[in-house]
Order: sequence, then structure tokens, then C-alpha cells
Amino acid sequence: MKIESLVRENILKLKPYTSARGDFLTGVLLDANENSFGSVVNDEWHLELNRYPDPFQNSLRNELSSYLNVEKEKLFIGVGSDEIIDLMVRIFCEPKIDNAIILEPTYGMYKVACDVNDVSTIAVMLDESFQPQLDKIYHATTKNTKLIFICSPNNPTANMINPESILDLAENFKGIVIVDEAYAEFCGKPSMINAVEKYSNIVVLRTFSKAWGLAGVRCGYCITSPEIIKLLYKIKLPYNINKLTSQVVINALKKFKQKDKFVKEINWEKEFLIKELKLIPGIKKVFPSDSNFILFECENPTNIYHKLTEKGIIIRDRSNQVKNCLRVSVGTREQNEKFLNELRDLI
Ligand SMILES: Cc1ncc(COP(=O)(O)O)c(C=O)c1O
Repeated sequence: MKIESLVRENILKLKPYTSARGDFLTGVLLDANENSFGSVVNDEWHLELNRYPDPFQNSLRNELSSYLNVEKEKLFIGVGSDEIIDLMVRIFCEPKIDNAIILEPTYGMYKVACDVNDVSTIAVMLDESFQPQLDKIYHATTKNTKLIFICSPNNPTANMINPESILDLAENFKGIVIVDEAYAEFCGKPSMINAVEKYSNIVVLRTFSKAWGLAGVRCGYCITSPEIIKLLYKIKLPYNINKLTSQVVINALKKFKQKDKFVKEINWEKEFLIKELKLIPGIKKVFPSDSNFILFECENPTNIYHKLTEKGIIIRDRSNQVKNCLRVSVGTREQNEKFLNELRDLI
């Protein structure tokens, strides 16, 4: 597929900002009006916080490239995957003209990113098993549909999307297929990363916010064709990823075994939580989960949500997205017990 033909004209024509640290990272640096005397912060990592960071995150991308076994030219780092969602809309969707397809119910930021950019969205519902209805998707597509957002495992329904459906869309949809794998580590099933080799229109989003336990550092990334990576680097803010974030993530990658341990423990706790939820008589359905959260159905969900909040137990009311459903993240055993005890009392 010719990616260029999908890109907004102003982005193709754009002469990107050339940043000082994009040109030089070493030397007698008198080019960026930084404070050459140093920083007010005593930086134990010796990161030279008085200097702007590398706009291309070369060190982090090198480390990530070897960790994933994916070429660096196929990697882009964002301020969370949320930044990449927004950039994708801005690269491909002409405000007021183009549109994006969103498979509802799903993660709310896809629509918000489109709304902010004045790009209309077409909602196509997932089926009863929360899988894509390909015929409905193709039927909803217009000549101005540039993006399809697929969240797998999906938030808030927690299930994996069939890889065959995603590949069907990559093959037949004449636009960009964004596969958000924020929760992929928890499902232990094959990722779409390998499909990027064959399909230049697949963009796989990943994040350090979930399994890696780094939501506070704000770092996500995507794996896609070098053509799309170049476009992302062309339009992003010059110094989006700060030096502290890069260093924390480089350190984290070396501790991937700890991440794997978290995933095991969280999945173990998830099974416990599912088993216990199923034993509560007022709970009508507990959906299977490929993620680190569980969707369950009960009567008066909003009421239960508020009552739990009063007790200091904070979950998510998702009943406006999936009828009568609440979503709970898997916590530690102690947190899960507290949640279950309060819930048992309420239902
Ligand atoms: C499906 C999905 N994608 C992306 C994100 C945001 O990730 P990040 O923290 O990397 O911006 C979330 C956060 O909850 C999510 O549920």
C-alpha cells in the first residue's frame, strides 16, 4: 500500500522544525540557549539535565530494538501511547473531511483524539463476543476513512481480538489499521508485531504503563513501517521524550524478568478475582479476561460504583459502554480482598 497517498497534504509539504539537539548532541554546545553552567538539580544519573534531550531517542530506541528484535527504523517513542494516537490522527485525517472507524465499546481516547482534531468518527459495534463484524466495518467505510482503531486486548471488554480479523482489515481496508496492544503482555498470545513486516499499514501501539509498571513516566511506543515512523518524527514536538523518562525505560528494559514476574502474579490474582466474583450471587456475568482488568455485569452498577467509592474502593463504571457493567483492575491480594468484601456486602 502506498502510505504517502493517505497522508494529509500539509503534512507531506511540511518543512519540519530542525532542533539544535537533532543536529548536534556533543561539542561546545552554544546553540540552544541552554544553561551551560549546569542545572539546579543534582542529577545522580549524570544526564546533563541542562541540555535538551536527543529528539530521536537513539539510545532508548537501540535498547528497545534489541529487546523486541525489531529494527530501530520501525520504532517511534511517544509520551504514552496516547501521544501516538493523537499524532496518527493528525498525520492522516484532514479535519472536517476525513474520518476514523472505532470499534465500540473500546478505549475512549480514540474518539477524543479525533474530536480534538475535528475529525469525525464512525462507531461500528463489536459483536456479542466483542469481536469485529467485518461486513459492518467494510460497509461503514467511506472514501474518506483513513484510520481504523482496534484495541486488542480490548478495553473495557478485556478480550483479544481475532488476529484473522485484524489481518483481513490490513489486507482489504485502504487505510491505516492501528492495533493498540497496551495489555498484550497479559494475554500471552501472539502479537501483531510480526504482521508489520508484511503490512506497511499496520501500526502496533505498546506502552510501558501497564505490565512494566511505569504509568508515571509516560512512555509508549509503536512498531510500524519506516514510512510511517518518518512521518511521526516529522510532526512530533521536538523534545517530546525527556531524558529522565528515557533513562528510566532503558533501566527498566534490563529488568524485563521483573515485568514477566508481575505479569504472572497479576494473571494469578486475576484468576482468583474471577473465581471469587463468580461466587457472588448478584453478579450476573464475569467476562473472560486477556488483560489486567475484569469486566463484570450486575444490577444497579452505577449505584454499586458510588457505594464502593464511598468506602474508598475505586473501580470504573462502564455501564454507559457495556450495559450494567463495571470494570475492576486486578490489584494485590489485599486490595482484591477489600474490594470483594465490600462488594459482597453491597450486593
Ligand atoms: C487501550 C489503551 N491504550 C492506551 C492507553 C494509554 O496508554 P499510555 O499510558 O501509554 O498513554 C490505555 C490506558 O488506559 C489503554 O487502556
